Amino acid sequence: MRPTIVEKERKVLTDILEIERRFEEASQSTPLDEKNYVLPEYFSLTREFDGGVKRIPLPTLAAPLDGPSYFDVVSQRASRRAYDKEKPIPLAILSAILFWATGKRGEMLAYSQKAFPLFHTPSSGGLQGIDVYILSTQSGGELLPGFYYYDKIEHELVVMCAPCLPSIWVPEGIYHQWFTLDAPILMLFVLNLMRGLWKYGLMFYRNGLMDAGIMAAHVHLAAQALGVDSCMIAGFDKRLFADKLMLEEYEIPTLLMGLGYRKERAGETYMPSTG
Ligand SMILES: Cc1cc2nc3c(=O)[nH]c(=O)nc-3n(C[C@H](O)[C@H](O)[C@H](O)COP(=O)(O)O)c2cc1C
Repeated sequence: MRPTIVEKERKVLTDILEIERRFEEASQSTPLDEKNYVLPEYFSLTREFDGGVKRIPLPTLAAPLDGPSYFDVVSQRASRRAYDKEKPIPLAILSAILFWATGKRGEMLAYSQKAFPLFHTPSSGGLQGIDVYILSTQSGGELLPGFYYYDKIEHELVVMCAPCLPSIWVPEGIYHQWFTLDAPILMLFVLNLMRGLWKYGLMFYRNGLMDAGIMAAHVHLAAQALGVDSCMIAGFDKRLFADKLMLEEYEIPTLLMGLGYRKERAGETYMPSTG
């Protein structure tokens, strides 16, 4: 049966088709010769910081030989929203989630560079539009409460500020999704538009939103494989987060994810009113 489009939906549909039209009009036909593109001078695959910034090197873990199979992980996966607030996530586990979701996996000739980095998460043009920021609200763990940036090339956490809760933590920005407050770790997936506007124009925004979903799915599955529960959260105040966390104007928060160990006897999953 064809769906019946009521007036309210018609209005939204018209808006979406207009946005789509603009995307398509603006799409530049980019030739598929990634080898020969020349990167803009300011380009960097990760956010750059001055030398004085504190960095936390992360342990690198070999893939566990006795780990669950892909099929085990997928069959156990669910969005889980009841976390044990008292049980911090060890740094080695957080490190493994980050590395096996989106760490560096190799290099190739691209963008006129002999060794352009490749990562575990695919991305539009290989430009890695998405950056992962981490909000730690856990107590008693190795990672102090604070705000961090994952440098996926160096496999390090850059300390943005720690300890600095509650000045940067924004519970009012998560709407009514109170389970988020119990997550010892929150990951924020941020689209850095300056990675690809030069190449794709407006299309980089649309591709970047896809990149965010893909990266979040990798993190969700990597966390599951390592015994950590998680839930993606699209229902949050993205502007408030950007302001409080002092992101640059070209850094767009896209998705948030709560991570933590399952609370004993917690319910499995429920259908939320958003997302
Ligand atoms: C893009 C995206 C956004 C989501 N946003 C939210 C959200 O804001 N709050 C929430 O509780 N769950 C959110 N979820 C989780 C979904 O509600 C969940 O995937 C769905 O209910 C199916 O359950 P399952 O993941 O356990 O199979 C989101 C999922 C996706 C993929």
